Amino acid sequence: MGKKDSLHLEDSMSISVRTAGSFKKPWAGRFGKKTEKIVEAFTSSVSFDRRLWRYDIEGSIAHAKMLGKQKIISKEDMELILKGLREIREEIEKGKFKFIEELEDIHMNIEHELIKKVGPAGGKLHTARSRNDQVALDMRLFLRDEINEIMRLIEDLQKVIVGLAEKHIDTIMPGYTHLQRAQPVLLGHHLLAYLEMLERDRERFNECLKRVNVLPLGSAALSGTGLPVDRKYMAGLLKFPAISRNSMDAVSDRDFVIEFLSASSMLMVHLSRLSEELILWSSAEFGFIELPDSYCTGSSIMPQKKNPDIPELIRGKAGRVFGHLIAVLTVLKGLPLTYNRDMQEDKEPIFDTVDTVKSSLSVLGKMMPLIRFNKEAMEKAAQDGFLVATDLAEYLVEKGIPFREAHETVGRIVRYCIENNKTLRDLELMEFRRFSKVIEKDVSKCLMVKESIKRKNSYGGTAKNRVLAAIKEFRKMKCWE
Ligand code: ARG
Repeated sequence: MGKKDSLHLEDSMSISVRTAGSFKKPWAGRFGKKTEKIVEAFTSSVSFDRRLWRYDIEGSIAHAKMLGKQKIISKEDMELILKGLREIREEIEKGKFKFIEELEDIHMNIEHELIKKVGPAGGKLHTARSRNDQVALDMRLFLRDEINEIMRLIEDLQKVIVGLAEKHIDTIMPGYTHLQRAQPVLLGHHLLAYLEMLERDRERFNECLKRVNVLPLGSAALSGTGLPVDRKYMAGLLKFPAISRNSMDAVSDRDFVIEFLSASSMLMVHLSRLSEELILWSSAEFGFIELPDSYCTGSSIMPQKKNPDIPELIRGKAGRVFGHLIAVLTVLKGLPLTYNRDMQEDKEPIFDTVDTVKSSLSVLGKMMPLIRFNKEAMEKAAQDGFLVATDLAEYLVEKGIPFREAHETVGRIVRYCIENNKTLRDLELMEFRRFSKVIEKDVSKCLMVKESIKRKNSYGGTAKNRVLAAIKEFRKMKCWE
């Protein structure tokens, strides 16, 4: 592209003009009056979207290189732009950059500074680009990095859980349904349930990454551009495996944001369930665990208190992440194509979600290995009551009794025990035989808690060899060894 074609770009130099305490807008040509202060304050997003600065510059560098390669701008102008952008990057890194609210957002702040630095050439950067494709790009680059980081943190927590499961492979505890003691299980098996949840979370983030990893740049405002851009080249520079197919979709799509918030919400569901168990287990009523002092706080009035604030806060923070999901769903709902300013409202929910998810994963990953499990209390709880009742029913099934009948018989035995203040293990063979003639001496074996666990040898069950196999399988799948 010749010099003549790009001449009109010189007009946009006006962006750098500072007029009596305020900055001239890039769109000033069309406007007869200055923007009201209250409007500037209301519309400005730089206080939060400055967080995108690194990605904004990275995107601009790729865009400028493409403009130069395609001869849409001269090589000299391209070099000037690249130099300016790199300088700005350094200034921001060193905390020397002054962000200006009147310049609305991160995009205009950087462009303004660029023009100030390199003069007219800087005004050519925005050729064949709009803030609409620019902001979509920044968000995608930002989320791509953050998702990778979140997936790393999930894996760290998974490693902690596998380590604990292995360490507690012989610890027996009650498994619960309805928060009532149900059947004995291994603590390791219980912990591995969270490993599975986290694995699905990681998969969901990985899936989401596919949809994040699409280059919107080159879509310009909404319809594409008449200038000979090379989108493939930019995709290569920015490491995008895919390029958006429809310019209108590209600038109005925030599905990837919602997907991210949704995957984050699901993750927070899981972290809050784990947290709730830690809270319950650390109570005097359960007494299953002791949380590390260094991860608890005390009371300002009750000297004896040690509170499980970390899991409580994670449980609570799940609420704000769900809120962000609903907020962005509601912002997007019913929006006409293409870009609408409403979409600026996706930033704070995304930033806060990223921070919340990362800090929750990190702190949990650090706290978990320091938990002291009270093996005796757990085992005692598992010995108590009628946790082996199902095993007794299965014993009857093995003796040829239909399961429904076996269930009924064991139910009557349990009622008999309750009425006579006995446990199943207290009963004499004679007492058992009053309920079923198929019961023989070997019944005592199936009433042992350890035996009950050993019996649960179905794939995915709590038998020790199954739990160990599950750990091995998982490690292999993750290539951890
Ligand atoms: N700050 C805006 C946002 O976050 C950037 C895009 C503005 N585009 C526009 N046409 N006003 O969405």
